[in-house]
Parts: sequence; structure tokens; C-alpha cells
Amino acid sequence: MATETVEGKEIFERRCAKCHGQKGEGADDAALVGGIGSLGKPKELRTVGSFWPHAPGVWDYVNRAMPFKEPGSMTADQVYAVVAFILNLNGLVEVQDEMNAKTLPKVKMPNRDGFVKDPRPDVKAKR
Ligand code: HEC
Repeated sequence: MATETVEGKEIFERRCAKCHGQKGEGADDAALVGGIGSLGKPKELRTVGSFWPHAPGVWDYVNRAMPFKEPGSMTADQVYAVVAFILNLNGLVEVQDEMNAKTLPKVKMPNRDGFVKDPRPDVKAKR
């Protein structure tokens, strides 16, 4: 039975892997996978898994900006599928998990609490 991550894998291999690697390992700055726990360490690796604080932001970014040379060319469901695949590669969702507007915000990203409050006095932090 085809699951969303399987569909996402098919899209990723066809439309993303040439820049981001077959398993999202990328090259230099194009890695989407790995680096969890590396922030602030000498070998820091910023990826979707290690850096992005909220999963819906990944959906929004991919929806607006990727593939790099053909932004806006995927349907909303295709974007959910490919994001599900990237999150699965990072070990953050299971293969059978379905990603949609309700489930995506519930994914706990490892760096969710890693951003500091804005220190500028004119910005009122709401936390
Ligand atoms: C032609 C090369 C290319 C292709 C194809 C491509 N990307 Fe990218 N991608 C990039 C580059 C370059 C960046 C960094 C852009 C920047 O920093 O402005 C990037 C950044 C990203 C990021 C943000 C990474 C981060 O941690 O900040 C995500 C997520 C992403 N791409 C997903 C995708 C997905 C999903 C696809 C396929 C649907 C895709 N990309 C296809 C080149 C590509």
C-alpha cells in the first residue's frame, strides 16, 4: 500500500535528490538530514532535523521556494508528502504517519526550544 512517505520519496528522488542527495545528505549547505544535537558544537550541521524549530515552516518554505529552479510547481499534497519523507529521513515521523494541516504542527522538532527570545526592547516577547 502506498503511503505518503513513499509518494514523498518518489518526488524527492525525481525533483530534489540531485541537489540534496538521495537520502537528504546533500553536499555542504544542502544537507536536509542529520546534525541533530550538533548545534553550538565545532562540527555544527544545520538541517531540517537539527535547526528548524517548527515543521509547518518547512512545508511553507518548500511550498514557496523548492525545487530551487521551479518554485511553486508542486500541489499542497505533494509538498506534504515530500516534507513527510524529509521528516522520516530525520527520524521524526514514522513511514505510515500522515502529514496534513492538522498533524504537521504536532511534530516535535528537536530544536523547538533552541531559539532565544528577541532581546530588542521594542519587541514584546509573548512567552
Ligand atoms: C537545483 C538544486 C535544488 C533542487 C532541485 C532542490 N533544492 Fe532545496 N535547496 C537548494 C538550495 C541551493 C538551498 C539553499 C537555499 C538558500 O539558502 O537560499 C535549498 C534549501 C532547501 C531547504 C532548506 C534547508 C535548510 O535546512 O535550511 C529545504 C527544506 C529544501 N531545499 C527542500 C527541497 C525539496 C523538498 C526539493 C524538491 C521538491 C528541493 N529542495 C529541490 C537547492 C535545490
